[in-house]
Amino acid sequence: MTILAIETSCDDTCCALLQADKHGFKILSNIISSQIKIHAPYGGVVPFLAAREHTKNLLPCLRAVLTAKTSRRVFENIKPQDIDLISVTIGPGLAPCLLVGLTAAKALAYAWQKPLIGLNHLEGHLCANFVRNFQFSIFNFKKVFPAIGLIVSGGHTILVLVKGIGQYQVLGQTRDDAAGEAFDKIARILGLGYPGGPAIAVCAAKLPTKNYQLKTNLPRPMMHTKNYDFSFSGLKTAVLYDFKKRSSRLQKSPAYIQAMAAEVQQAICDVLIIKTIRAAKEFNVKTVMLAGGVAANQRLRQLLERGLKFIPQVKLILPEPQFCTDNALMIGLAAYFKARTQDLKFNPGILNGLEIQPNLGLV
Ligand code: KG4
Ligand code: ZN
Repeated sequence: MTILAIETSCDDTCCALLQADKHGFKILSNIISSQIKIHAPYGGVVPFLAAREHTKNLLPCLRAVLTAKTSRRVFENIKPQDIDLISVTIGPGLAPCLLVGLTAAKALAYAWQKPLIGLNHLEGHLCANFVRNFQFSIFNFKKVFPAIGLIVSGGHTILVLVKGIGQYQVLGQTRDDAAGEAFDKIARILGLGYPGGPAIAVCAAKLPTKNYQLKTNLPRPMMHTKNYDFSFSGLKTAVLYDFKKRSSRLQKSPAYIQAMAAEVQQAICDVLIIKTIRAAKEFNVKTVMLAGGVAANQRLRQLLERGLKFIPQVKLILPEPQFCTDNALMIGLAAYFKARTQDLKFNPGILNGLEIQPNLGLV
């Protein structure tokens, strides 16, 4: 089965092509057209601009995945008749952006008379955990589930009990800013550019371990509350107050910015990890799975690994860093899991009824 996947929920135009059978899949091509340069001056994604860029970039991306004009040249031209299933993100995400992907996917499905399936972006992020070396790793799902999933991206921070693929119980989520959003907004305060997560991580890594004199004690919001919710907007405000009370010389000094970046990263990691480990113990799970753009953060990955050593019966599954941020491969993979349980056929009625769901949760 050959699956074409399209993902345009935020600021990356993504297409992927994968070939799957009941044993697993391999990636034929995976293309991401980034819009970082467009949004960087604004310090965040501007929905209208993102949608406009998707309209410009989607057809070239589609052409590229179908002709394998990528570094991984594993096949010659794929023809429409070779494709068995088209998959597209329908939510959650930015409405004008989702519309571009869904409209293109519908047009292709009509023209080629192929089944079309709408996928949940967050489920896609979780599925990215099953990619190893550009292939679907034959995970023994009996050893994986139940799992605790920590989905941390620019738009979401969700702790979820994953009983199986498609079986989710959300335990808690952020009440205000998402973890990635906090990284992005704080990076803007510190003048570190966009996207803020990688910028803060790079800056924090430059902090000398010795001569760490500057004290920046930031709060760990909701770290000890009994629920599994999060809140990161107070952290951003604390950084802003600290920044404002410093002299303009200190505000620009690498020593201050690096100390602040390291403390911000540590504060976000501390809260995420304490709650994830508590959930893993309470629900007696077999694994913990990290997902979303912030899952690429090395410090978060290391600290979570270290924390889970104290409960050796719980294994950690980490997505490869390149598949943490948005991509279409994860959507194709989510479609693959759905296709294994459903009989998907071309159906103009179903196609017509498929709509974007910008506020879709993990259901
Ligand atoms: O999953 P994603 O690509 O898009 C959404 O679905 O939102 O996540 C993007 C977010 C951004 O906020 C970005 O700053 C953050 O992921 N991010 C990171 C890192 N790489 C990306 N945050 C911390 N450390 C990183 N290395
Ligand atoms: Zn995402």
